[in-house]
Amino acid sequence: MSNNTNRRDFIGYSFAAVAAVGGAASLYGMKQVWDPLPSVLAGGFTEIDLNSLKAGEPSTFTWRGKPIFVLKKTADMENSKRDLVIGSDRYTVAIGLCTHLGCIPAWKKDQWKCACHGGEFNASGEQVFGPPPRPLDLPPFEVKGNTIVLGNEGPECKQIAEAMKA
Ligand code: FES
Repeated sequence: MSNNTNRRDFIGYSFAAVAAVGGAASLYGMKQVWDPLPSVLAGGFTEIDLNSLKAGEPSTFTWRGKPIFVLKKTADMENSKRDLVIGSDRYTVAIGLCTHLGCIPAWKKDQWKCACHGGEFNASGEQVFGPPPRPLDLPPFEVKGNTIVLGNEGPECKQIAEAMKA
């Protein structure tokens, strides 16, 4: 009887050990699947040096596969509640996808013009003509000195997002 009990205990412990190892291996495998790929992590943030921008000429950057427009405004371009003000300079930062159906507007004569259905956005990214229902969207960003880091929502970005809602 005692021998049987010991054998049963041994088999029980063996099953428990195998199940524990299998469970740990499964959890490790699931973590590998859930964790973002290194290439995704690396692509999560994009740094833009504002010193490299020329006033009146927007630059297009890529962040998480999306075009991002950054325009250093000239003095005669309209003021907007979505202006990012750094020192004496004003910038427009926007996701470069038309808010109608997602085409990429092109910069022509101080406006972003969408070739798909004729939508137009002014230098502040506000829709001024055609079917786009709202301004160009704001990407999350934070300001570090004279650099914008896309991917983190800093206080300046939150302030502009709040102003855009008002
Ligand atoms: S997608 Fe731009 S106006 Fe329709």
